[in-house]
Amino acid sequence: NGNYSIPKTVVLVGLMGAGKTCIGKKMAQELDLPFVDADVEIEKAAGCSISEIFEEHGETYFRDRERMVIQRLLEAPVQILSTGGGAFMDEGTRKTILEKGISLWLRADLDILVERTSRRNHRPLLRNGNHREILSGLINQRHPIYAQADITTDSAEGSADITTKNALEGLF
Ligand code: S3P
Repeated sequence: NGNYSIPKTVVLVGLMGAGKTCIGKKMAQELDLPFVDADVEIEKAAGCSISEIFEEHGETYFRDRERMVIQRLLEAPVQILSTGGGAFMDEGTRKTILEKGISLWLRADLDILVERTSRRNHRPLLRNGNHREILSGLINQRHPIYAQADITTDSAEGSADITTKNALEGLF
């Protein structure tokens, strides 16, 4: 990209439904950088879906695969990398992200997360139980850790373009 120079891969972190994939794609477009989604790469490497990995091997196995995939993606040239909501919670994965990338926490409040995760139900962690209760527990547990990210951007309700603009401003 001609106008700006991004020194390291930008890694989007934050809860399910925060809009990491959507905002990550838009940032990549604006910056003329490749976009990559860690969850998609994990699925490609495993040859099955994330739900299947959870079902067949459990969460610990998934986190190990996730850590390896993210480590590999952070060796590649600078890009925009979206990660699954639990990635930054894993100590090893977080360490790699903090060392090798520019971490950007996409923060959204409970109502937005509940709304956005209500549309599809492909997420193993939301399978059993009430979305609002689960997400509210995850906010308490995870937000203090996401706060370690280099940059925090609030998800502007209703406008992905505004959120993208704010995220890009956070980078420069
Ligand atoms: C997870 C989030 C998911 C996916 C997996 C576990 C989590 O990614 O990695 O279901 O622990 O929050 P998204 O945040 O993209 O939904």
